[in-house]
This record gives sequence, structure tokens and C-alpha cells, in this order.
Amino acid sequence: MVNHFLKFSDIASDEIQPLLQRAIELKAGASSNALAGKSVAILFEKPSLRTKLSFWVGTEKLGGNPVHFSPDEVGLGRREPVADVASVMSRMSDIAVIRTFEQKTIEEFAANASIPVINALTDTEHPCQALADSQTIVEQLGSLTGAKVAFIGDGNNVAVSLGYAVAGSGGHLTVASPVGYEVAGESLAGANIYGASAGGTVKQVTDPQEAVAGADIVYTDVWTSMGQEAETTKRLAAFEGYQVTPSLLDRASSEVKFMHDLPAHPGEEISDGLLYDPRSVVFDQAENRLWAQAALMEKLI
Ligand code: NVA
Repeated sequence: MVNHFLKFSDIASDEIQPLLQRAIELKAGASSNALAGKSVAILFEKPSLRTKLSFWVGTEKLGGNPVHFSPDEVGLGRREPVADVASVMSRMSDIAVIRTFEQKTIEEFAANASIPVINALTDTEHPCQALADSQTIVEQLGSLTGAKVAFIGDGNNVAVSLGYAVAGSGGHLTVASPVGYEVAGESLAGANIYGASAGGTVKQVTDPQEAVAGADIVYTDVWTSMGQEAETTKRLAAFEGYQVTPSLLDRASSEVKFMHDLPAHPGEEISDGLLYDPRSVVFDQAENRLWAQAALMEKLI
């Protein structure tokens, strides 16, 4: 059976820590030829900086050959059926890294692929980001077990994958969102079930101050995700009061670290300059995409 990573729960919760330890080893300089003689096809329907760069460089670090397609080059599901693209990529490459709007598109792709397929972001999950986030939290706190993580803002793809990652590692995530922008009920329930054996939990609240009280990590993401641009004005109004600021961080643990998956919109979900606050670890977090995904590709190949 082919191993895919289409959603965070495609890895068992007891596989998370070994994967993170391998990512930390690779970051420390361990060498790997896991992709020697192999090609990784990278196909995105949406823009990307970190994901493209980290998969490209990560593939090369493992001795492999990256082949990248920009959003309009392939016309996934328009110029050519998703199933046919999956079949062709399976004949000529060894891993497919796919970013799509709808989760069902990547599921259809994987159903027709005979190589591992990795979710490089869909509207419902961003599981590679959550792996890098987990690595960052382990680096900062020593462990995710018992960690208190607050996510402030939209209960979006990033929040969902983070919920599975934190709960599956025995940590506790509290998401604070305005009414109507919470994490989907089935994802909240799914993350709590996934995290049960590790003792982890995910909880939804509306009050950012409640979420950050005592938090070791405060995390936020954009209020308007890719594909939601038509809702920008409505969202700016809905998320008023949800901006992460230095004074909100002051209400968390005295050792709190601030995280954001980037790109950020200062003046919206964060105050100006917050990325450069001494408590910010956002650029470590961005770099960890490289190492976490290299460890993932080693595991899947
Ligand atoms: N939630 C954001 C994440 C970007 C990396 C989006 O989907 O646009």
C-alpha cells in the first residue's frame, strides 16, 4: 500500500515524535541519500514561497531531483483530468507534492497515484506546516507533552492541522475565534479522538485573552486565506479584536513564544513589528519546513 500524507492523521500519533527527532537530526547535519536517483514532482494550484523552496531544497538535500510546476502550467482538472495527471506523475516520479484548493482534489489525485502524495496545503489542512510547527515547539520547550498552545483567529486549515499535531503529541491547543469562524466541529472532534491516547486536547473558545492565559505558545495565521479574497472586507470586520499584539503576549506565560506560518499581514492578525519581537520564533518555524518535510519524505519513500 502506498503511504500518503493527505491529512495530519495519516501518520499515527506514536509516529510523530520519531519523525520530529529525525527532522532535528537532519537540521543538525545528519546526511541522507534517501532520494538518490529519485524525482519529486511539486504541483501547486495556489501561490507558495516556503513550501516550494523547502520541498525543492529538501529534495536536493536527500539526493533527489525536484520538478516544479506553477499553478497554470498543468491545469489540474481543467486542461487534464486529475486522475490522468496522477497516473502520469506516478510513471515518471517517486513522490508528488500537491497544493490544491479542495481537499477532495488531492484525495482524488492520491486515489489514482501509485507513489506517495503529500498535501502541501488544501483549504482544510496544512499538515506539513503542522509538522514544522511541532518541531519548532519541541526545540523551544523540549517537548510538546503538556504544552499549552493558543491559536488566535480563523479556525482554518492551519488551525486544524495544528490541532491534530498538538493533541497527538499530548499537548493542549485552545483556539479563539469569532463566532462563525471556529474550527469545524468534525475537525475539533477528530483531533480530540486522535489525541486521546497521548492525553492531548483541542478546545474552541471565543475570547483571545482566555486562550492565551498561561500559554507557552501563541500562534496566529491570516484572517483571509488563499481563495477567500472576496470575503476580505467581511473578515476584517469579523476579526476585529483578534489581533495578536505584544500586550496580548504579556498575558501568556512569561516564557511565551510567538508563532505564525507566514505570510503575515501586519495591521490585521498581528500588530506592526510583532514578527521581530524577541518572543517571535517565526523564522525558525519557517526554516523547519525544510527539515520536517525532509524527514517526512524519508519516511514515505
Ligand atoms: N491559511 C493560509 C495559510 C498560508 C500558508 C492559507 O490557506 O492561505
